Amino acid sequence: MADNGGLEGVVVADIDTSYIDGSIGKLIYSGYTIEDLAENASFEEVIFLLFNTRPPERGEYEELRSRIAENAVIPADVIEMMRSLPRDTAAMAVLRTAVSMLSAYDADGENLSDKERAKAKAFRLTGQITTICAAWIRIAGGLEPIAPRRDLSVAENFLYMTSGADPDPTACAALNVYLVLLAEHGMNASTFASRVVTATGSDMHSAIVAGIAALKGPSHGGANSEAMKMFLEIGAVDNVVPWFEKHIKTGERRIMGIGHRVYKSNDPRAGILKRHSKALAESSGKRKWYDIAVKLADTARADDYFIKRNLYPNVDYYSAILLYTLDLEIDMFTPLFVMSRIAGWSAHVIGQMGGRLIRPKANYVGPQGLHWVPLDKR
Ligand code: ACO
Repeated sequence: MADNGGLEGVVVADIDTSYIDGSIGKLIYSGYTIEDLAENASFEEVIFLLFNTRPPERGEYEELRSRIAENAVIPADVIEMMRSLPRDTAAMAVLRTAVSMLSAYDADGENLSDKERAKAKAFRLTGQITTICAAWIRIAGGLEPIAPRRDLSVAENFLYMTSGADPDPTACAALNVYLVLLAEHGMNASTFASRVVTATGSDMHSAIVAGIAALKGPSHGGANSEAMKMFLEIGAVDNVVPWFEKHIKTGERRIMGIGHRVYKSNDPRAGILKRHSKALAESSGKRKWYDIAVKLADTARADDYFIKRNLYPNVDYYSAILLYTLDLEIDMFTPLFVMSRIAGWSAHVIGQMGGRLIRPKANYVGPQGLHWVPLDKR
């Protein structure tokens, strides 16, 4: 096998959406640092930035915000399909199926040649994915889904549709930061999957379904729920060190939410999420999980194995605490990642449209020169 296992270091496109310098823990979206955006931008402004490489004027921002909210309604048939699924279906499988089904109801579903129409479809999908996530929480809990409101942002609408109550401003602000931080991240596995599908000339829904499928894996977006399961298994701050000795020092398991293909120093998103999850944990009186996460990260960071391999908490580590503190079921963590990353995926889909087919080579290591013996003579 060539020495680029996992395609590490292979450049596959020129992009203007995000830039990562993993050696110093730097991430920018179209020129703006992630720290600046997390502090000052709304998710909708970030969507505009990723599509236009500039921030929106007020009118453009208002227009995008209402366009997403107005298009967030999902067809009754999609709700019925979700109702028909077993209640214990993985939420990512529900989302993958529902997004695929949406293409049949999108008047522009099959088109992937016009960039403006593709953008409109991306905004529809952004609103609809928010609604699917909230609707599944309600359906899985035996409740009626709640329709989206036209006056709310993505973060506000999601929280509103899960409870039916006016969303709490602190929860909205925390969720907005989460959505900003996870919106885009270079040529990660799910984005690459979306681009491969787009490069075949396929449609936007297919590309986004491919992104969802790739994000589902525990080595990628599925790590946030695995991290939370790990914190719950540890159960108390005093159990952290014995748990680490038993499962990690022996090499039996990996710490989920630690390590990254690109960041060989701090993942800047992890630090911001750590701060926000701490504030949220304190304001809700649920500090225990945050304390366990910090203790485990500190234990790992003091260990030679983690030091030598430059393993630091990644975006999924403190996301788990933030989402759990927002009272979300663990199964919903990765769908929430999709709610944000739809922005990056669709910006990449539009960037890839009209580009050349992505078709790498494989290195054949099988036998040669054999002769086929018909079945009845074998
Ligand atoms: N815990 C313990 N050891 C680890 C961890 C971890 N979380 N992550 C990597 N390592 C070790 C590996 O065992 C390997 O050791 P070795 O050199 O002795 O063989 C070394 O560090 C390098 O690991 P690779 O798996 O080769 O690194 P790669 O770049 O392929 O993988 C990955 C990165 C998949 C993220 C990995 O760090 C991991 O499995 N982390 C846990 C899952 C996770 O958090 N995924 C989310 C990533 S962020 C995202 O996708 C949104």
